[in-house]
Amino acid sequence: MGSLIAKWFTRLRVHLLQYRYRNRPYREYYAAVMRVRTAYDPKFAVGGRWEEIGRLQFDFLRARGLQPTHTLLDFGCGSLRGGLHFIRYLEPGHYTGIDISPEALAAGRQFLAQAGLEDRKPVLRLSHGLTFDDFSSQRFDFILAQSVLTHMPRQDIETLFAHVHKVMHPATVFYATFFDGGTRTYTSADRTNFHYPFPLLRDLGAKYSLRITRDPDYPHPRKQQMMAIRLLIDQQ
Ligand SMILES: C[S@@+](CC[C@H](N)C(=O)[O-])C[C@H]1O[C@@H](n2cnc3c(N)ncnc32)[C@H](O)[C@@H]1O
Repeated sequence: MGSLIAKWFTRLRVHLLQYRYRNRPYREYYAAVMRVRTAYDPKFAVGGRWEEIGRLQFDFLRARGLQPTHTLLDFGCGSLRGGLHFIRYLEPGHYTGIDISPEALAAGRQFLAQAGLEDRKPVLRLSHGLTFDDFSSQRFDFILAQSVLTHMPRQDIETLFAHVHKVMHPATVFYATFFDGGTRTYTSADRTNFHYPFPLLRDLGAKYSLRITRDPDYPHPRKQQMMAIRLLIDQQ
């Protein structure tokens, strides 16, 4: 019962944040949502189903060719639901996780220590923007955004698409999940989930020389869809 009340109180606090942050950039609002949700439960904060969705991400990237020697950028890594699997598998230093929520990253570091994986030397960083300017010349073989574009307004996705090439090389594949809105763009009542038509995302990518295709083979329990984002390489 205590936990039910705590959960209800967390939902109320998230609801009230909408008003407090109504004139602030969406990212600030969502970081505040993460702060409140992480204080309640860092596994619940990233959507729960911890084992299932953590494993799903890992199995998917393995099936798409991820090897221990590859480098991975986990964009919006949260409290490392998928991250722990990748960190265990990849060579030391080959995993980088970034997130806008310091609380989620702190929880991730605790899970990392509990799992005895600190010697895998993952890089976990607070993200301050969407322009990747703090990565200098670093490029990743794979990029993953699991349940992140589902929490981003269209303008932020456009900024991401305009800059993500800075951390991609010609063979990089950026896998990102999204909620398929069919023909509509819409958001949940509490403004925490966004749904987009796939053609909108595909055309937005094309504007920034990205080729975006659907990957139909992603059995997400909440019906998030997967897309693969590649650099459009000049064929001449
Ligand atoms: C639903 S959680 C998923 C976390 C992780 N990918 C997983 O599967 O467990 C969404 C995460 O994306 C982060 N996030 C949202 N917008 C972001 C942005 N613009 N840049 C980086 N992280 C972001 C949130 O802070 C949150 O940790």
